[in-house]
Parts: sequence; C-alpha cells; structure tokens
Amino acid sequence: MPRLLPMPVSSMVVASRHVVLERDTQLRVAAGYLDEAGAGHGRLVYLGGEAGVGKTTLLEHFISGAEARVAVGWCDGSATPAPLGPLVDMLPDLPAGTWPEGASRHEVFASLLSLLRESAEPDPPYVLVVEDAHWADDATLDLLRATSPPRPGRS
Ligand SMILES: Nc1ncnc2c1ncn2[C@@H]1O[C@H](COP(=O)(O)OP(=O)(O)O)[C@@H](O)[C@H]1O
Ligand SMILES: [Mg+2]
Repeated sequence: MPRLLPMPVSSMVVASRHVVLERDTQLRVAAGYLDEAGAGHGRLVYLGGEAGVGKTTLLEHFISGAEARVAVGWCDGSATPAPLGPLVDMLPDLPAGTWPEGASRHEVFASLLSLLRESAEPDPPYVLVVEDAHWADDATLDLLRATSPPRPGRS
C-alpha cells in the first residue's frame, strides 16, 4: 500500500498564503473600481475592519491578480512616524521624479496627483496602497485628502 508523504512545511505555508475564503463579493467590487480607474475615474477606497479580519490578505490577493501598477506603503505604529513614510515606501514603484529633489510637500502632492490623472490607457491604472492607515502621520492624511476625488455635492 503506498504511503502518503507528509506535505513539506514550506509548501503548506505557501499554499495558505493563497487561500482566501468568502471574499468573492469584495474582490468583485474591487475589480469594478479598478475598471473604473482604468477608464479615468479613480477613487479612494477605504478597507476597514478589526485587526486580523483579513484586510491585508484580501488586498494582497486582489493586487496579485490585478492588471495595475501597484505601489504599497506602510504606516508604522510608532509614536513619531516619519512624515509621508508610506509615500517614501512607494517611490521605487513610481516613476522617477515623482518626488522632485527639494520639492515642497504641496509640490509632491501635485506631482502625484498629475501622475494619477495622466495615467491612461493603454497603460494599466495605478493602485496606491496605504497599509495600516489608522497609524497614518498627518502629512499622509493630507496626501490622501489631496489626491482623493471630490465627493459628490462637495467642492
Ligand atoms: N478570507 C480569508 N481566507 C482565509 N484566510 C484568511 C482570510 N482573511 C484572513 N485570513 C487569515 O487571517 C490572518 C489575518 O489576516 P490579515 O489579512 O493579516 O488581517 P488584517 O490585515 O485585517 O489584520 C492571516 O493569517 C490570513 O491568512
Ligand atoms: Mg493588515
């Protein structure tokens, strides 16, 4: 009788990273948002939930299959987070010159905004991710405000 070999631990770990349960609706909605962004209608998407509920897992699964130019930045939970730390994390995945040498904060915001506005077909849209935004420094919150499309009915 053939013996079943135990699965090596490393493949179990790799396999578990790709198992995402009960997130079809959220993935479908996110894919719709990405299609809209590709058509020139980008948006700010807030993905909320308690720690451990699966926000990062959902996001990683989504971006691994998305036709998009993805850049991810992380907010750190320290008492003195570096201003715009998440944007610094993203820079290697953004075009050179997105943060021009010596630029003021508002010039950097404008540069990022025009990058997002000018990206258009046939190039895939950008997906910029700010992980753990509940820890965002004030400058990163300003960046999110500056790059968010206006809400309907508000200027
Ligand atoms: N939809 C899911 N299907 C399977 N496992 C999940 C799912 N969502 C989260 N997990 C597992 O739960 C754990 C915590 O998820 P994580 O994405 O880090 O949570 P969060 O970012 O919300 O704190 C991870 O080990 C992850 O593999
Ligand atoms: Mg997370």
